[in-house]
Amino acid sequence: MRLKIEIKPNDRVFVLTGAGVSAESGIPTFRGVGGLWRGYRIEQVASPEAWAADRRLVWDFYSMRRQVAAQAKPNPAHMALAELERRIGDRFTLVTQNVDNLHEQAGSQRVIHMHGELFKSRCDRCSREPFPDTNLYEQPVELPRCDCGGYVRPHICWFGEMPFDMDQIYAELATASVFVCIGSSGVVYPAAGFVKAVPTSTRTYYIGPEAPENVGLFDEVLEGKAGEVVPLALR
Ligand code: OAD
Repeated sequence: MRLKIEIKPNDRVFVLTGAGVSAESGIPTFRGVGGLWRGYRIEQVASPEAWAADRRLVWDFYSMRRQVAAQAKPNPAHMALAELERRIGDRFTLVTQNVDNLHEQAGSQRVIHMHGELFKSRCDRCSREPFPDTNLYEQPVELPRCDCGGYVRPHICWFGEMPFDMDQIYAELATASVFVCIGSSGVVYPAAGFVKAVPTSTRTYYIGPEAPENVGLFDEVLEGKAGEVVPLALR
């Protein structure tokens, strides 16, 4: 198996990360063992319908996730991606499906969080900008309200909602000559389709311990854990 991905002086590198890149930092993946929370599937607590039906349940879930993510530290995969950005600058694009801040903690400067950010909230009614928020809203804490009277919700892209920054993401995909996906099961769209949105000449790689659902769309799979393979592959 090849371990190093060649990056030529004119290459533009697009990296997409999924839950697998944070697994070795102690943040459980969605579809791995233990993917359920209190017996709920993620879709049952991460959707506008869940928010409309039971805001307390939704905030319990995201408070738990805030608590887990607040303990986590970046691993060598996050570090290697930050280093690659320092090395090749704006020829590098990092898009993550993750809502944790481990890429930023590792030193990445320009991270596109297509599924939102765990440590931000926004109003579910008015157009107030998303704002930093590390609070836990569990009993007996009151659920937060906006000045406008709306409810404050996690700044997360839920099932059925449009991911963020899609125009910018597709523009970057159109000019990428190297595409690397790390630790994503390839079942959630549109991210699972990004590998098809690059030019046909683009070299495409998947890094992770098992084949993703969309494995047939990649030129090459570099099998193994992100924390072990990424620092070697992208050095
Ligand atoms: P999944 O939980 O679906 O998949 C995680 C992937 O990481 C799997 O393919 C694992 O094989 C792989 N993996 C596990 N350990 C790894 C390691 N140490 N190194 C590398 N890979 C490893 O997570 P995502 O594909 O990111 O959306 O899920 C996509 C979206 O579905 C999430 O962003 C979330 C979820 O519902 C929203 O919340 C909107």
